[in-house]
Amino acid sequence: MCGIVAYIGPNQAYNFLIQGLKRLEYRGYDSAGIALLDGDMKVYKEHGKVQDLENKIGNQNIEGTKGIGHTRWATHGEPNQKNAHPHLSQSGNLAVIHNGIIENYATLKEALVKTGHVFKSDTDTEVLVHLIEEIRNHEKCSLFEAVRLALNEVVGAYAIVILSKNDPDVLIGARKGSPLVVGIGENPGEFFMASDATPIVEYTRKVSYLEDNEIAVITNGELIVKTIANVKKTPFIHQLEISLDAIEKGGYEHFMLKEIFEQPKSIHDSFRGRIDSNTLQIEMRSLNEFENKIRNLKRIIIIGCGTSWHAGLVGEYLFEDFARIPVEVEYASEFRYRNPILYADDLVIAISQSGETADTLAALELAKKAGATIFGVCNVVGSSIPRMTDAGAYTHAGPEIGVASTKAFTAQVTVLTLLALGFAQRRGTISDSKLRSVLQELERIPAKVEKVLKSCQESVLAIAKEYSHVSNFLYLGRGYNFPVALEGALKLKEISYIHAEGYPAAEMKHGPIALIDAEMPVVVIATQNEIYEKVLSNIQEVKARKGRLIAIVTEGDTKVKDVAEHIIEIPETEDALVPLLSTIPLQLLSYHIAVLRGCNVDQPRNLAKSVTVE
Ligand code: AGP
Repeated sequence: MCGIVAYIGPNQAYNFLIQGLKRLEYRGYDSAGIALLDGDMKVYKEHGKVQDLENKIGNQNIEGTKGIGHTRWATHGEPNQKNAHPHLSQSGNLAVIHNGIIENYATLKEALVKTGHVFKSDTDTEVLVHLIEEIRNHEKCSLFEAVRLALNEVVGAYAIVILSKNDPDVLIGARKGSPLVVGIGENPGEFFMASDATPIVEYTRKVSYLEDNEIAVITNGELIVKTIANVKKTPFIHQLEISLDAIEKGGYEHFMLKEIFEQPKSIHDSFRGRIDSNTLQIEMRSLNEFENKIRNLKRIIIIGCGTSWHAGLVGEYLFEDFARIPVEVEYASEFRYRNPILYADDLVIAISQSGETADTLAALELAKKAGATIFGVCNVVGSSIPRMTDAGAYTHAGPEIGVASTKAFTAQVTVLTLLALGFAQRRGTISDSKLRSVLQELERIPAKVEKVLKSCQESVLAIAKEYSHVSNFLYLGRGYNFPVALEGALKLKEISYIHAEGYPAAEMKHGPIALIDAEMPVVVIATQNEIYEKVLSNIQEVKARKGRLIAIVTEGDTKVKDVAEHIIEIPETEDALVPLLSTIPLQLLSYHIAVLRGCNVDQPRNLAKSVTVE
């Protein structure tokens, strides 16, 4: 996700652009830039946050009543000044900002290079602005027509705004798959554009939301909307009612809830373009570059902290299950100080949403010094861990603002699933039929997550109301659901401040069962799998001691519902993919209990989003 803003009107554009980008930093914040038109095209770009850009501009005299701005969340090309938007055309007369992904940019770029275009960045966006200019020069057409023809050649998602030195009274925006809002200013001929209404709402409440394949052309003070098929549309003008704060959170009360509901998309984005369930292709750079290493691998060590450590535990089951490789999962903070045994032929995988966790970085340094191959599974492009690893794979969860990790966890598990399947394929430890079955089921997971989100909210809220006052919770799971039990307990602890523990369900009889009484709520993940009957026995043990059972079960389950007080059903899926579904109700349960307890859900006490200190 990135944030884009644009202005055209009677006033100076700079303040709107800079303040608007700050409002959109929740969409991305690794680099930022603006372009202003006051006769000349002036571009200012900086690696880092919008404040870094503002500091760089300093008190220069920034003039211009037309301008565009962008705050980036890198997907193609490292976060740095060169790759920051806006990007210019070959002549420098066109400037573009873009939120989205142009999937066929490499093909387009190859053709443009052949006609003499020279590129300055590694981004897909720069290809688009060169293409627009190439078409305009070749067709001798209007800027709108050149944009329209170019967008007909693009495959992917975009929200773009184009500024043209030769068309000073024109501002063009277009969208497909990424949001773009047009604000109709109070002053004649004054218009705003932005990724959402947060930068606009303090200037005007009259907005028009572009639909997919629509192009907004502001020319000579008028707004015209056409489709990329050149069909004129009548823009529908909304009167904004919601608050600034609510818009940033997409209408959700907290970032955490928004991010929980983003998971169908973030899971899809984490496998999109990487798998083909027909050809059984799993396309990831790390799989290709380290094919020999993977074939002869003797051991994997996974390191992480908190939720990332829990994702690593799921990874242990995945790699051992599919690729038949011994895996050790280590708390990074312990690993770094216990003088661990490390071999040069080890593969060490660091899992980290932020890519900046101090303990994980230090543990990775240790592995690097020992000569092990090091991979990273991170969410922030260009963060410290991806910059030091030999390879790895990014999760494409987008910025995670809530301190409690939710969509990052399921994105990490998704990427670990792809790696485990890719390893298994290269080691010949998985049949084509099994691989096809898991890949096809993975493609169904986003819709199944959507279904869980819709179906369980009401029952989860009822459970939250019944138990929001308690002081303790137990979470039990077995197999792939054991790490999910740990993760569910962590979510509750860190945002509701209720003490909670996760355990392997069978472990109860070795002590913790002494805790069970009529006051103890016990969440049990009891989905249908080979050890389902064993979990049923564990449930009976809890029931016999009057524990209050809350069970996550597979849709249609008939046995658990006779024993548990509360049932939450999730769709059937491959056992290895259950964590992507069973974690959802637990995220919502912790969220609703925390809200009922009046806790600060997005910024829980004592916690930081990225623990960059020991
Ligand atoms: C999880 O909800 C917490 N925010 C915390 O445990 C987090 O997972 C941990 O600090 C690791 O962070 P990282 O993934 O950015 O390395």
